[in-house]
Amino acid sequence: MLFTNIAWLLAGSASASASTSSFKWHWLNNPGVEPVSPIGRSITIQVPPDTDIWRPALSKHNFTAPYLYTTVPAAHFQSVQVTVTGPWKTLYDQGGLVVTFPNRHNPNATRFIKAGIEFNDGTPALGVVATDILSDWSLSPITEKQTGNAKATILVERDGTDAWVYVVEGQGKTRRALRQVTWAFNEDDGQGLAKEIEVGIYGAKPTEESGEGHARDKIAVSFSGFSLKTV
Ligand SMILES: *[C@@H]1O[C@H](CO)[C@@H](O)[C@H](O)[C@H]1NC(C)=O
Ligand SMILES: *[C@@H]1O[C@H](CO)[C@@H](O)[C@H](O)[C@H]1NC(C)=O
Repeated sequence: MLFTNIAWLLAGSASASASTSSFKWHWLNNPGVEPVSPIGRSITIQVPPDTDIWRPALSKHNFTAPYLYTTVPAAHFQSVQVTVTGPWKTLYDQGGLVVTFPNRHNPNATRFIKAGIEFNDGTPALGVVATDILSDWSLSPITEKQTGNAKATILVERDGTDAWVYVVEGQGKTRRALRQVTWAFNEDDGQGLAKEIEVGIYGAKPTEESGEGHARDKIAVSFSGFSLKTV
């Protein structure tokens, strides 16, 4: 713990680029793929079917999606942003940001926020899932005119004890609120605040493709402009 704190003090006193390049990256659920930093480069995740991040019941905790993440002390987190796109075409095809609040005593009680694009009702939409005890999900239309695969820039920003989820529109000039999560950095909720959180990008494909020989087809979810701000 002491060493972590010292490392953070050193990183904090260095330039922003030095401190961001000091993040260590890990893959969850992407065997055989080397983790690389998504900062300053584009990343494509080849997402297999039958994957999700979703907890509809305590006995159905599902965190099977490929997730490229780094660990940040909760007290230092400010915001994370990424632009995500992909050839969305099947129910629940999705990708975007995940912020995880691990529960060291019970991994099944890990809290998380996921936000990005999700395909529903025949069209890609902006989806946010916040999971305190169980998951709840909201959808909002993509309102910007687009050509080709739907693309969106998603921002999760800390505001006091809240996390706010936004879609960034108008070439980065405006942002539209999608969700306020009041438990995110709140110690006064009976569960306590995770000291360290995990922040990164993911893709999931809950539904297999239909058609002879296509059940194992993957979806290529692509990310650019990743930015992680800490204090
Ligand atoms: C996770 O969800 C996917 C999509 O619904 C499903 O196919 C898979 O079996 C689930 N895995 C676990 C461990 O619950
Ligand atoms: C955790 O969740 C999985 C389902 O994803 C379940 O099989 C397992 O029994 C749960 N473990 C505990 C300790 O609740």
